[in-house]
Amino acid sequence: MSNVSSFVDSNIGRIDRRIYVDKEIYDQELEQIFGRCWLFIGHESQISKPNDFAAAYMGEDPVLLTRDAKGKLHAFLNMCRHRGNRICRADAGNAPSFMCTYHGWTFATDGKLIGVPGYKEAYFEELDRSQWGLVEAAHVDSYKGLVFATWDKQAPTLKDFMGDMAWWLDMLVDRREGGTEVLGGIHKWVINANWKFGAENFGGDGYHFPITHGSTFMRGNAPSRGPGIFSANRHPISPGKGNGVLMTYDGPGPNPNLETQNPMLRNYMVQNLPELEKRLGPARAKQAIINVANMFPNFTWHPAPILRMWHPRGPGQTEMWSYCIIDKAAPEEMRQFLRRNVAISFGPSGATEQDDMNNFIQCTATARTMAGKNYKMNVQLGVGRDSMSEVMPGKVSPSPSETNQRSFYARWTEVMDAPSWKEISVEKPSFKEPTAVN
Ligand code: FES
Ligand SMILES: [Fe+2]
Repeated sequence: MSNVSSFVDSNIGRIDRRIYVDKEIYDQELEQIFGRCWLFIGHESQISKPNDFAAAYMGEDPVLLTRDAKGKLHAFLNMCRHRGNRICRADAGNAPSFMCTYHGWTFATDGKLIGVPGYKEAYFEELDRSQWGLVEAAHVDSYKGLVFATWDKQAPTLKDFMGDMAWWLDMLVDRREGGTEVLGGIHKWVINANWKFGAENFGGDGYHFPITHGSTFMRGNAPSRGPGIFSANRHPISPGKGNGVLMTYDGPGPNPNLETQNPMLRNYMVQNLPELEKRLGPARAKQAIINVANMFPNFTWHPAPILRMWHPRGPGQTEMWSYCIIDKAAPEEMRQFLRRNVAISFGPSGATEQDDMNNFIQCTATARTMAGKNYKMNVQLGVGRDSMSEVMPGKVSPSPSETNQRSFYARWTEVMDAPSWKEISVEKPSFKEPTAVN
């Protein structure tokens, strides 16, 4: 295992670009980051009934999220314990058991091995079936409908892992009575880019909006018609631990970004502001709109509205999984509007998505060329210009800033180098929402 701290200077914002293309570093990420952090694996609405299941990934490992016959949630490695075949090829469904397509070993939705062809005649009842159930993640937990899992027994609780990031996530998942649900299937596609480029971009890159998405904004088919290039109304905020949020607002009066939303979406949000305030308090009601964010390492949300996983597929490849998430209480017209909005903006052929993807692909490509690899990447924007917010959990920066990128890479270095969770800093959720804001 190599010490990666020499690759990243997050104080001054210089990154050695081998971290995007080096196979050894990538393998270390699979072990140290994806093998230990809490990872999003699905939404409870995908598995609402006993024996429902949904496929997911934790890093490169295919997993099955199940609700067993008694209603308990599980995350299993999607791997037959006989020779390692996948036990389930379907994306989602309802089934009391999974029969491997190779020799027919069969597992229940609670992971138990319940069927072995030839158990009497060929194994002579000598196989201890209780030892050969599905491999289960060390911990599975859900937060307001979102299900996460980790392979590491020593990992902190999900709540402690999230820290103050939960405060921000609530603005997506706890706006309305009844919570949220996933609408339709999952957009899945692969691009030739390192997973970190997507994660750190959605975790707070307001700098790229007017350039990368300039043509999309001009055509009017962006998810919002944002204010100008360096709008003071779009702060990146850094709640710590590598997490990043964008589109925050801490000025006087209501959030002017609400005015930039599509009129139909704006009306829906305005109508529901009293409910939002009642549920989450005045500071978040003042924010009004959903933020863009990345929770370390690779879980993104966006007001399109989507949930997104940047699954690593080798140092130069990422498999994106995008879920459309909506308030359960949203009227049918709003659901259909948002479903279309997701497809035209952040689906695989979405206008804004295509703008972003090509940049991530090119940034990855030049990190491995003969000359290009020798030059460090610059994330110096706004160094030393952020300060703690009093009304929101995190450090606020003047807009735009790369403070969230620096936080992301600092956390990346910490988790990559730490021998165990004992050496990784964890902060319990700390933010107390003030009773009134200006
Ligand atoms: S690999 Fe699954 S039954 Fe043989
Ligand atoms: Fe973008």
